[in-house]
Amino acid sequence: MENSLLSFVDITEKTALACYPLIGYGDSKGADQLAVSAMRTAFNKLPVDIQIVIGEGERDQAPRLYTGERLGDQKSSVKLDIAVDPLEGTALCAEARPGALSVMAVAQRGELFKAPDIYMKKLACGSEARGAIDLQAPVKDNILRAAKALGKQPEDMTVGVLDRPRHKQLIQEIRETKARIKLVGDGDVALSLETALDFYSLDLLMGTGGAPEGVLSAVALKCLNGGFQAQLVYKDEQERQRAEKAGVQKLDKIWDRDELVRSSACFFATGVTTGPFLEGVKKEEDICQTHSLILTPNSQREIKRKHFLKTV
Ligand code: FBP
Repeated sequence: MENSLLSFVDITEKTALACYPLIGYGDSKGADQLAVSAMRTAFNKLPVDIQIVIGEGERDQAPRLYTGERLGDQKSSVKLDIAVDPLEGTALCAEARPGALSVMAVAQRGELFKAPDIYMKKLACGSEARGAIDLQAPVKDNILRAAKALGKQPEDMTVGVLDRPRHKQLIQEIRETKARIKLVGDGDVALSLETALDFYSLDLLMGTGGAPEGVLSAVALKCLNGGFQAQLVYKDEQERQRAEKAGVQKLDKIWDRDELVRSSACFFATGVTTGPFLEGVKKEEDICQTHSLILTPNSQREIKRKHFLKTV
């Protein structure tokens, strides 16, 4: 188990290291391409049969690992489904802003929701507020119920939201409750994690972001016993058809965490640029240091490792 966790974190580490040369150079597509290639190469060295079920990037026509792509050793009897976002926060990496990550989730075959790369409305929280949230309820009710579950006043609550024009109404409704808002340019996987990590700084994540990032967040929150609910959001009829084609049967359903992640799964993240809970890749002469998070159903741990550039 220990060895397999280390071989999986090795993949997000290698991917984060591959992004390092392009941090802060304004080339988000180039950084994404480096991340995708490094991740594909690393997966192909694993002696297990890997199927990519979430390969984020289709929505922005970005470089990506393809949904359905098979990697590793297809003859192996160990068959795993993998959800990836090789570079979560491409703009954060390109502009050397905080919080770019390389992330991945690993599950038994057939256990992850195969979300199409469209938008998803999300509501995430830590373990204490898990029974209190309901994506169908008004924003105000969710904040008040979560505050009660946490033994807080709404003004002591902080809600993470992506800074997008589509969130204007949401932001206004949150403000009406007096809750505080952490508004970020990118990265709602990190915002979801921040609601549930031991040293959490957020109480809730609200708003609409990528569906692939939603499934990755659901895995992380399941490991942390946090709450996660989501609903796919369609721009047009074509996207509804895409979701149907991807196998989504109930197009307008609100999905709970355990429907997105049907059995136990593990989550891996390595910092590309320093963010709220992981340091970014650091280079000193010919040694790079990575900082990663490994979440399993019963453990949460951080790992810092040094890599000699010649062996990367
Ligand atoms: P990328 O790494 O693909 O740029 O995603 C960053 C991100 O902020 C995600 O965390 C979030 O789910 C999604 O983009 C939101 O999409 P959009 O930028 O289109 O609002």
